[in-house]
Amino acid sequence: MAMPGPGYSITMRIAAPPSATAAGDLTTAVGKAGGVITAFDVVESAAGLMVVDLSANALSADHAGLITEAVGSLPGVEVRKVSDRTFLVHLGGKIEVTSKVPLRNRDDLSRAYTPGVARVCRAIADNPDDARRLTIKRNTVAVVTDGTAVLGLGNIGPAAALPVMEGKAALFKKFAGVDAWPVCLDTTDTEEIIRTVQLIAPVYGGINLEDIAAPRCFEIERRLRGMLDIPVFHDDQHGTAIVVVAALRNALRVVGKDITNCRIVVSGVGAAGNAIIRLLLKQTPADIVAVDINGIVHRGREGMDPNLAEVAGKTNKDAQTGTIHDAIVGADVFIGVSAPNILTGADIRAMNSDAVVFALANPDPEIDPLEAQQYAAVVATGRSDFPNQINNVLAFPGVFRGLLDAQAHNITDDMLLAAAAAIADVVAPDQVNASYIVPSVFDAKVSKAVAAAVSRVAHEQGHAAPAASFSSVGEDDD
Ligand SMILES: NC(=O)c1ccc[n+]([C@@H]2O[C@H](COP(=O)([O-])OP(=O)(O)OC[C@H]3O[C@@H](n4cnc5c(N)ncnc54)[C@H](O)[C@@H]3O)[C@@H](O)[C@H]2O)c1
Repeated sequence: MAMPGPGYSITMRIAAPPSATAAGDLTTAVGKAGGVITAFDVVESAAGLMVVDLSANALSADHAGLITEAVGSLPGVEVRKVSDRTFLVHLGGKIEVTSKVPLRNRDDLSRAYTPGVARVCRAIADNPDDARRLTIKRNTVAVVTDGTAVLGLGNIGPAAALPVMEGKAALFKKFAGVDAWPVCLDTTDTEEIIRTVQLIAPVYGGINLEDIAAPRCFEIERRLRGMLDIPVFHDDQHGTAIVVVAALRNALRVVGKDITNCRIVVSGVGAAGNAIIRLLLKQTPADIVAVDINGIVHRGREGMDPNLAEVAGKTNKDAQTGTIHDAIVGADVFIGVSAPNILTGADIRAMNSDAVVFALANPDPEIDPLEAQQYAAVVATGRSDFPNQINNVLAFPGVFRGLLDAQAHNITDDMLLAAAAAIADVVAPDQVNASYIVPSVFDAKVSKAVAAAVSRVAHEQGHAAPAASFSSVGEDDD
């Protein structure tokens, strides 16, 4: 059952008579209307009146309206103003630029800006690699979207996508100290997006593609990777794949199975499913059977795009055909990144013993997790109100921290796998159980472990900048 949560949280400014029971009457009214009170502050008090700010969580915008009505209908009570606390945190945006250097006097100005800055510009012109050391390129990532696949909202355009991209930038900073900046493009044309990212790339040490709809996202990423000397990472693909592989590693520990013996069904072969399948294939499972809206993906299926045809060529060894209900029979693992409520308990019961079920469609999973739990040994979802939340925040901050630290020019599948192993290993062997296969997103060890793993592989594979590659001033002179 849904519970009131902070996503629909209001603060009501209320004028009420200062009777002995006033506070109790207000809180009772909110409680009876189903709201959950989170704060009660008196902001003004006089002989005939008290003014309070009462904050409460609700189920929805409509429910918040009902709570407000319930309070306003109390005798002598006036609701003067209602603030939606989610909108309040968005006023004026969620991120800002701050200066790292003092600008107190003419001396400071001469160094940070003209004339001093000209020498730094010349140094970079002479040795372009110095941009990674002497500019924000060293620590800055562009979060690039065209606004075509935003959350579950679909194609809402670049301006409406901005709150999500700002949130992403805030997470980059909070979890990994990365300076990320939203770049919301007013085009959905593949060529225009590629060309624009190419043109802005000099400023950035990495490109995080975000919420760009499949299948365009595949070509955009592939071509940008080919033309840029900085890593390009589509989080909806690879961030998801990293966390799924991490979670599966620990889920299989719980059930004592080896991935090489597992038959895995992946429902959804869009941005997420495609990347998950590709990364899982690196771990040589016994088989993967992919299913999309048109049923099981198999060689020879009509109407497949090149991407789907490639998946068909690498999966489904027995050339199975049919529906998701056929595919799941006898499977060890189900991974859903597709659509809500497409499975029932009977489907999970038909899986192999000790089944692992990741039902990740948001906001409503492929199967009610409580129903899945009756038949599966381990269940994970994308939801924050259920154990084992598969959340990309576990991956992307540390991945880019590692790439920036290594001054990497590329990102490889081995880096993604190393990131997945690092996330999984944050859960110690004596901690791992059916309700704890991934660490908390607030565990500070996660992004550090992921960054170290990604940076290590970048160095091992020769994708990192060699140490001491800079001209001009020594690194210790800063
Ligand atoms: N961390 C997470 O929890 C996480 C991460 C990424 C995506 N997701 C969720 O996964 C879903 C897919 O995301 P995406 O970005 O890959 O979307 P997408 O639009 O790129 O792909 C959707 C895929 O699902 C398939 N599909 C649609 N209806 C289906 C059905 N009834 N049965 C089987 N397949 C069906 C489509 O054919 C397509 O292959 C979304 O609900 C998204 O919220 C969750």
